[in-house]
Amino acid sequence: MTSDYGLVEREIRDAFAAPISATDAMRRVVEILKARVPAYTWVGIYQLIGDELVLGPFLGAPSPHTRIPLGRGICGAAATERSTIIVDNVHSDPRYLACSIETQSEIVVPVMRNGTVLGEIDIDSDTPAAFGPRDKQLLEAAAALLAVNM
Ligand code: SME
Repeated sequence: MTSDYGLVEREIRDAFAAPISATDAMRRVVEILKARVPAYTWVGIYQLIGDELVLGPFLGAPSPHTRIPLGRGICGAAATERSTIIVDNVHSDPRYLACSIETQSEIVVPVMRNGTVLGEIDIDSDTPAAFGPRDKQLLEAAAALLAVNM
């Protein structure tokens, strides 16, 4: 099953049409992405607090990585590099911090306002190489909308 990414983006945009708290904004984005894209096995949002990424709303199996220092993991790398990272095979990436043994691929998209990292959207998939340019485009659009509300 493939998702209509344009509709997913519109649904996120509509969720932000009226004022919304940062917590509700993060929760809605996680809910919409998890519900609409079958390949997204685990969807979560980390907030950058000091020099740690702190896990906020998520859907999927509980992760042991609720606080990630900036220098660690794919999450830490994306925040440090301030750019999206796609990993087709997490088992061949030495930076990878395991959340579930089922996970095969991952995308991490920084949420930034005026070049400052506020947090990131982290998505795992049980499918290898699940993330391509359409996912990057959708999730960077979602991150831009989140940045206004975080
Ligand atoms: N895999 C991430 C850690 C977060 S869990 O996937 C939820 C990383 O390598 O930074």
